[in-house]
Amino acid sequence: MTHNDARRGSRIYSKPVLATYDTLVVRLSNSLAWRCPSRLMLAQYNRLVGDRHLDVGPGTGWYLAHADIPRGTDLRLMDLNANSMEMTAARLSARGSIAAYELNVLDPLPPAVGKFDSIGVNYLFHCVPGTWAEKGIAFTNLAEHLADGGVLFGATILGHGVRHNLGGRGLMALYNRLGIFHNWRDDAEGLRTALELNFDDVDIEVVGTVAVFSARRRSR
Ligand SMILES: C[S@@+](CC[C@H](N)C(=O)[O-])C[C@H]1O[C@@H](n2cnc3c(N)ncnc32)[C@H](O)[C@@H]1O
Repeated sequence: MTHNDARRGSRIYSKPVLATYDTLVVRLSNSLAWRCPSRLMLAQYNRLVGDRHLDVGPGTGWYLAHADIPRGTDLRLMDLNANSMEMTAARLSARGSIAAYELNVLDPLPPAVGKFDSIGVNYLFHCVPGTWAEKGIAFTNLAEHLADGGVLFGATILGHGVRHNLGGRGLMALYNRLGIFHNWRDDAEGLRTALELNFDDVDIEVVGTVAVFSARRRSR
């Protein structure tokens, strides 16, 4: 069931929807509805992107296009929706061709995808169906592809344990009804538990209604 829901949810990212995303989400909703300005999440990209970076759910690629990512970085994309990866790759075309994997984060990644020093999952998990125990499978799948000492980082809009303003409540109701979001039960404690099952050094800061997080994989 969650696999079909995941596929249905990611289909919303058609080319016309992606064309409005930077204005509606990156510029307006993040500050006004979710109260977590995009520059905070961009700062996390600037701090944590490593030499080999996998971006899961890149959307329009706004963060990758605006972050200070050195030219030599091995940048790869993974998404259930090819439109997102096409738009991101086109935006980053000055970097040459970018490997893109059309995969569901709820499934194990093929071993050939390899290991990364950083994996970005910004605004992915509020789109993934299930409870933290169910969607947390994605952390297990991604941890397999994090090099020793590597970092997974991102942000996710919470539905529980935070105070949504009027605009946020309206968008939460609409997006959850349409199956774009699946986050009514997502709280920061559940996120911490799911991350700690798979990683070390978990850090979560709740800004507005958004959990901004990072987690490392120590050398084993
Ligand atoms: C809300 S957008 C996030 C865009 C961007 N990272 C940001 O921070 O604004 C969510 C992205 O995750 C992708 N996605 C949703 N569910 C997925 C899944 N189960 N596996 C892989 N990608 C998924 C969508 O297709 C979309 O590109």
